[in-house]
Amino acid sequence: MDGFVLTAGPAAELAENVSQPFERARAMPKCVYSSEEFLQLELEHIFRKDWFCVGREDGLARPGDYLAFDLAGQPIMVLRDNDGKIRAQANVCRHRMSKIVEGRGNTRTLVCPYHGWTYGLDGRLRGAPGMARNSDFDKSRYRLPQIRCEIWLGWVLVTLNPDAPQVAEHLAEVEAMIEDYAMQDYSQGFFEVMEWDTNWKILAENFMESYHLPVCHAKTIGGLSLVDDVECPKGRPAFNYHTLQKDPGFTLSVAHPENVRLKGDRRFMTWLLAIYPSMLITLTPGYFWYLSLHPVSPGRVRIFFGGGMSKEFKSDPNGAKHFAELRKLLDEVNEEDRGCTERVYAGSLSEFAEPGHLSHLERPNFEFANYLSKRIPAQVPKIDRATAD
Ligand code: FES
Ligand SMILES: [Fe+2]
Repeated sequence: MDGFVLTAGPAAELAENVSQPFERARAMPKCVYSSEEFLQLELEHIFRKDWFCVGREDGLARPGDYLAFDLAGQPIMVLRDNDGKIRAQANVCRHRMSKIVEGRGNTRTLVCPYHGWTYGLDGRLRGAPGMARNSDFDKSRYRLPQIRCEIWLGWVLVTLNPDAPQVAEHLAEVEAMIEDYAMQDYSQGFFEVMEWDTNWKILAENFMESYHLPVCHAKTIGGLSLVDDVECPKGRPAFNYHTLQKDPGFTLSVAHPENVRLKGDRRFMTWLLAIYPSMLITLTPGYFWYLSLHPVSPGRVRIFFGGGMSKEFKSDPNGAKHFAELRKLLDEVNEEDRGCTERVYAGSLSEFAEPGHLSHLERPNFEFANYLSKRIPAQVPKIDRATAD
């Protein structure tokens, strides 16, 4: 292209990798997993630009419930304020810029741990000790910077991008596909934050394909998931997905008898939704679980992991028993996935590592690679040396 030059490095290797038709595609080049340079490009072009999921709205049920996290290097908190509204704001004190809260918890006010400036849940400064003698100081002019935050089907999403389209518009196609599941009525039963020693994309890709179920999960769900029936349609710009039928013997994963919304095959159908960049939802008629991923470094990923049940199972007299069994199962499945994805990262660092061909069951991985490649420019503007010097 005139005026542009192809860069060398991971972005260019990825562009080359996705230039094949799917029938001839290979796994992504190993450098996209290990390169610090590529991680910086992901933070800039993906995590700063897209909507990022921080869990379920009912995970922040009471006023003052908060969750602190970093998004593309920015310390942020999401919380429920006293008006019952979920809001996101910078987790950075307006005095001398300390971070204010850590982790998760519940609080009535946000007190900076350095000099005690105290903010309301709406981010407005309420008190600042020892500031009465500075004539310029006006408490009413201080507020924590507010960050875009939207609720979609019970999910809380934030973005640093003022120009990102509204979530409901951005994900309208996903919403239409699964409308009869009424995901907004599912309730969260657990939420955890974990870190694993793998690249975030390896874990995302692991979620996107059910090819690994019979082997990696042989001791747990391998036999319950009917992989022969997996449908892997072409992806969409904002997400990819596939569906599988669950063995009806697995009570929670098929529709509850009181669920009259789902008809026919859909009563047994599990959806694996991979909403870019890193919101990964397994939605079954009876329960859901999810991962939301953010890189810590090329070889380490922070994971928001949660799940819960559909409205009918939640109100079933055996609901709690079902849920305890589900939780145990999900923990075991997760450990299996942890082993598999940490081994892939370790293997990808080898000088002998080479990406092999993809199965037809790995179509979503190819779609994901295409999404990444579109977002991360492999071409940069050509500098005209004569005028630049
Ligand atoms: S930095 Fe927060 S009160 Fe001083
Ligand atoms: Fe898995």
